[in-house]
Parts: sequence; structure tokens; C-alpha cells
Amino acid sequence: MMAASLPLSTVRDLFYLVAVAGFILALKGLGSPKFARRGNQLGAAAAVLAIAFTFTLPTLRHSGKNLVLALVAMVLGALVAVPVARLVKMTAMPQLVAFFNGVGGGAASLVSIIELLHLHSLGLKPAVYVTAEVLLGVLIGSVSFSGSAIAFIKLQELITGRPITYPGQQAINAVVGLAIGVLVVLALVTGNIAFVFVLLALALVLGVIFVLPIGGADVPVLISLLNSFTGLAVAASGFVLDNNLLIVAGTLVGASGIILTRLMSGAMGRSLPNILFSAFGAVITATGGEAGDASRSVRTGTPEDVGVLLAYARKVVIIPGYGLAVAQAQHTVRELADALTARGVEVFYAIHPVAGRMPGHMNVLLAEANVPYEELKEMDEANPEMSTADVALVVGANDTVNPAAITTPGSPIYGMPIVHADEAENVIFLKRSMRPGFAGIDNELLYDPKTTLLFGDAKDTLAKLVAAVKDA
Ligand code: TAP
Repeated sequence: MMAASLPLSTVRDLFYLVAVAGFILALKGLGSPKFARRGNQLGAAAAVLAIAFTFTLPTLRHSGKNLVLALVAMVLGALVAVPVARLVKMTAMPQLVAFFNGVGGGAASLVSIIELLHLHSLGLKPAVYVTAEVLLGVLIGSVSFSGSAIAFIKLQELITGRPITYPGQQAINAVVGLAIGVLVVLALVTGNIAFVFVLLALALVLGVIFVLPIGGADVPVLISLLNSFTGLAVAASGFVLDNNLLIVAGTLVGASGIILTRLMSGAMGRSLPNILFSAFGAVITATGGEAGDASRSVRTGTPEDVGVLLAYARKVVIIPGYGLAVAQAQHTVRELADALTARGVEVFYAIHPVAGRMPGHMNVLLAEANVPYEELKEMDEANPEMSTADVALVVGANDTVNPAAITTPGSPIYGMPIVHADEAENVIFLKRSMRPGFAGIDNELLYDPKTTLLFGDAKDTLAKLVAAVKDA
């Protein structure tokens, strides 16, 4: 009754408000492994609600052409996105995020510019503040678009993952930055639309030259930052379109993106400017570096021996890393944990915040295998218990347990907090070779007398361990 007496625009705003509340609750849910799935579903439902009420806008209701265009765009988008999201491998998730993020930034930039063209086609000279909003959307959205595209092709290894530097880089950056500043002023003062197009082109160039010098291991942090940029571009396009939903949703993405970026750089023991503007990545390769020191001896073991050690342990801490994702061994690691728990062994997982290649990588993998949440401990919670563990079972992790982060000033990972696998009574590494992790540096713990190496693909080795534990 009440809704019938309210203008449609008010009803729409009310439902937008409900959608915004849904987005905020979704973000809250995504903050913990236990509620992440529900948070995700809630966010998706809120987005559906928001889209449904967007179709009540006069520009869509009163124009059959706009309506058809919007529907065609949605169908095309879904046709691409659904199979891509379903088929993507967990290890390729950062590329997927870069791809989606770039498209979002590009869309925000296009929306801003098309709105400006629309105003011009009506013979209206936009107010300075409207031009400013358009410029913001175009600038940030285009940087995010081209920057994400370069991040994508780096992660996909279509070009080298190493930082790309070239002569006169600083000078070129300065010229492009200055030219953008001048164009912004000119566009604001004159209102001439030609300046906006030149700005669009230069912003695309800026995105490319901003991302090229950033190295392999730092690219996921960069993607998080670009994600934040896309949020801000969407918020700017929300101002241009006078759409509150876009303003709030864009700001939420912008704010959460920057918080995540800071958390990631903190967990890597680095400052954000250091990640963005240093040549740190120069020593890093995207797929791992040289083999370890061949002149030093390591102790290797058999799954049978290690199976007995695990079966008769009191406390086993599993430390998963990127190799777990590569091997897709999440189900097998859970089987091993279940077999041990069934024997009365206390088992938990120690999760490093940047284990893997994307935020929450290990949580997502282990949730997929239905590992009970109470068995997952964040690094800070797990570390005080490491000295009481009989076995630290390192499954495809390396940098995140490398003591060089504490002992070796000058090491690329110096200052990064680590999971203290070295404090356990026995350390078992499941890896395929002596190759290092992402940071490309040797790990002293591999040579420690209390360490045993089980070479092989993590999934195969874990399956053998499950059998050995059951036989013990
Ligand atoms: P890494 O240090 O990258 O080590 C991965 C280990 O897995 C390697 O030692 C590799 O050794 C092994 N491995 C690979 N495939 C395997 C397989 N199929 N079976 C068994 N082992 C396999 O991993 P981590 O400890 O998770 O550290 C993550 C790194 O990525 C850190 O340097 C972190 O700073 C960086 N990083 C992470 C993020 C986020 S948000 N997670 C973002 C940016 C950067 P072999 O090749 O010998 O098998």
C-alpha cells in the first residue's frame, strides 16, 4: 500500500539502500572462512536486487533501444563470465581477478565519457564539477583498465613476470604525469571535450607504464590496488550518473581494496611504496628460480617412515603453501588430517596470510575440501604453539616458513613474518625439487638436521602418507 503511494524513484532508492546493506554484510561475511560462502551469496543477491531496480530507471523504462542494449550486454557478459569463472583453475585466480577488475575499470571510464557526450549532444555545457567527476572516472578507470591488462598478461606469463625497465623510464613517467595534469586543467577551464579524449589515451598509457616495472611476486598486491582504483572510478561514474548505489558500492570496493592492499604488503613485511616503486621484483622469477645449493646435503625420507612419525605424533601442524594449490592436493591433505585425527593425533593447519598467490588462497582451497574451520589457525594464533608440535608438515610452502625473513638482513623477504615451522621438533617438507619459492631464494630450513624432505608432487606424496598412516 505504502509502496504504491511512493514515487518510483523513492522505492528504487529504498531498495538500493537494502542492496547496499547487503553489500556491507557480504563484506563482513567474507572476512571469515566460516561465513565467506554465505557472504558471497548475500553479495550476489544484493547485486541482483540492485540490477533489477536499475531497470526501473526512466532511461531504461522509456527507451526500448536502451533496454535492448542493456539486456544484450548482460547476456553477452554472462556468456563470457560464467564459463570463465567456472573453468578457471585455482592457481589462475589472480589473472581472473585482474581480468574482471580491468573490465570494471574500463566500463566506469566509458560510462563517464558517454555521459559527457550525451550532455554535449543535448547542447548542454556541463558544470565544472560534472566535468571534474567525468575526468576522475576516465582517469582512474582507464589506468585500472590498461594496468590490469598488463598485470593479466604478466601473470599469464605471456610476457616476462619480471619488472620491465627501459632507458628514460623516470623521464617518460614524469612527462606523462605532467601532461595529464595539464590536460585536467585545460578540460576543466575550457570544457572542451577533445581534452577528455586525449586524457583517456594518456591514462591508458599511464596504466601500462605504471605496471610494467612491477615484478612477479608483487603483482597480486598491485591487482588489489588496481581493484581499489576500479572502485573509485565506479564511484566517480556514480556521481556523473547521479546514482547513489554506484557511489556507495564503488566506495566500498575502493576502501576494501586499499585495506586489503595494506594487509598484503604488511604480511609481506614491505611498505606499499616499496612494492610499487622499487626494483625488488628484479631478483624474482614468476615460476621459481635456481635449484638449491647442490654442494650441501639434505635428508630425504620415505612416505612409510614419515607416515609412522606422523601416526605416533601427539601434535602435527600442517603448513600449506602455493604447492598445495599447484598439486590440487586439498582433498588429500584433509584425508591425511582425518586419518591422523582418527588415531587421536591433534592436527591443525597454520595459515600464513600470503601463502599461495592471492589473499585467502589457502582458506579457499581448504574450504573447498570441507576442512573444519576450527582446524584452521591464522599465523599469529599458530606460532605460539609451534614449539610444542612434534611435526611441522610443510605442504608446498617455502617462503612463508623461510627463517631468512628473520635472520638475513638484505634478503628480499627480510622482515616478512613467517610461520615458525623451524620451532617444531621435526620438519617435513613436501616438494618436488630443491627449487626455491616465489621469492627465488634458498631456504636454510631445508638443510636443517631436523628436516626431512619428501620429494614428489604433493598430492601423490600425501596419498602415500595416508596409506602409511593407516598401516602404522
Ligand atoms: P612459495 O614460497 O612460492 O613455495 C611454493 C613451494 O611449492 C615451492 O617450494 C615448490 O617447490 C613447491 N611446489 C610447487 N608445486 C608443487 C607440487 N605440485 N607439489 C609439491 N610442491 C610443489 O609458496 P608460499 O610459501 O605459499 O609463499 C607464497 C609466496 O608468494 C610468498 O613469497 C609471498 O610473498 C608471495 N605472494 C603471495 C601473495 C598472496 S596474497 N598469497 C601475494 C603476492 C606474493 P618445488 O618447485 O620444488 O616443488
